[in-house]
Amino acid sequence: MAGIVEIKRLVKRYKGNVLALKGIDLEIYRDEFFVLMGPSGCGKSTLLKTIAGILDYDDGELYINGKDMKNVPAYKRDISLMLENYALFPHMNVFDNVAFGLRMLDKDEEEIKKDVMETLALLELKGLEKRFPNEISGGQRQRVALARALVIRPSVLLLDEPLSHIDYRLQRRFASLLKDIHRQISGTAFILTTHDQHHGLSLADRMAIMNSGLIEQVGHPEEIYNEPHTLFSARFVGEVNTFMGEIQEVGADSVWVKTDIGYLKSRKPNAADNLVGRRVGYIIRPEKIKISKTGENAENSVKCIFEYLNYFGHYVEAIFRAPHNVRIKSTIPTYNLPNFKVEDEYWLSWSANDARTIIKPSVVEGVDIEDLIYGR
Ligand SMILES: Nc1ncnc2c1ncn2[C@@H]1O[C@H](COP(=O)(O)OP(=O)(O)OP(=O)(O)O)[C@@H](O)[C@H]1O
Ligand SMILES: [Mg+2]
Repeated sequence: MAGIVEIKRLVKRYKGNVLALKGIDLEIYRDEFFVLMGPSGCGKSTLLKTIAGILDYDDGELYINGKDMKNVPAYKRDISLMLENYALFPHMNVFDNVAFGLRMLDKDEEEIKKDVMETLALLELKGLEKRFPNEISGGQRQRVALARALVIRPSVLLLDEPLSHIDYRLQRRFASLLKDIHRQISGTAFILTTHDQHHGLSLADRMAIMNSGLIEQVGHPEEIYNEPHTLFSARFVGEVNTFMGEIQEVGADSVWVKTDIGYLKSRKPNAADNLVGRRVGYIIRPEKIKISKTGENAENSVKCIFEYLNYFGHYVEAIFRAPHNVRIKSTIPTYNLPNFKVEDEYWLSWSANDARTIIKPSVVEGVDIEDLIYGR
């Protein structure tokens, strides 16, 4: 199946020699909800603007619906872009804001009225047609911006950080609205950017982790969470305990890694050759850790001191101190919470199959594994 958007070795250089996209390869399919996630400045907005045609690219190829976009202007691309700041026209009422794109396409007014009213109904904005942007709430303005982008029924809807600048409750509501709308309309791929992993993970059919103008990994959220290719991906998606280590021994399916908190066993990395002596990141997700008072017969067991809890409502994070003052985090459902005593000893254990040994820090050249782990 060919992608609705096909991107090959795409390069974008801004004035002043800022290389914002360093050779992006990506394919996004019809009806997909695709999320671009990465830290501030990694190139998410640049990539969206390049797809939309607001920015030209310097090298590589971009196809939409199989057509080369090199010399195709933004308005002919069958794409809508909802910008970070919504950019509603302040002097136009809600109806005219939403109708704008259709009028640009020279549709007749009867048809425009039908399409606008349909889209306003879809976004629960009926009754607000005559209001101006400064006469509606922030959440309503955001929905008007989405209505304006959706009304032309584009092949690709680009959403740049649609969930920033609003409070948490509104974020949740808008995220589920986006998901509902994505389910209700067909033929449109959604591409959304965020640096918030909770939104990213919960919305995405597939996602790409970006870093410094490159893509670290593309996949289903659970695939990236469970099988990260790089340490950067592992740490950007979900919570994780990371220990700096060196591979000491290699078995058929497992490796033993020497770390500050002892010898730890994990599943063998895919990379295969010359593993012994490699400096690696050893990772274990907090929900995979079992806590006991007496120690269990587990493949990995570390004696720790309990320090404190972070409460998150339905779950808590328990923070422990392992040897050499290394912190380990474990997550526990609140209904199952034991009565921890500060400074008491506990055994933290996990199976080798739940842990990963990761060799590559990042796809970005020159990233040092220790610098990444210790945050230098
Ligand atoms: N007009 C511009 N001129 C020069 N450099 C730019 C320009 N716009 C962006 N950049 C640079 O390009 C890089 C990528 O920027 P971009 O806005 O795409 O990042 P982002 O991932 O969207 O970040 P954020 O999460 O903060 O929105 C950054 O280093 C940024 O400083
Ligand atoms: Mg941005």
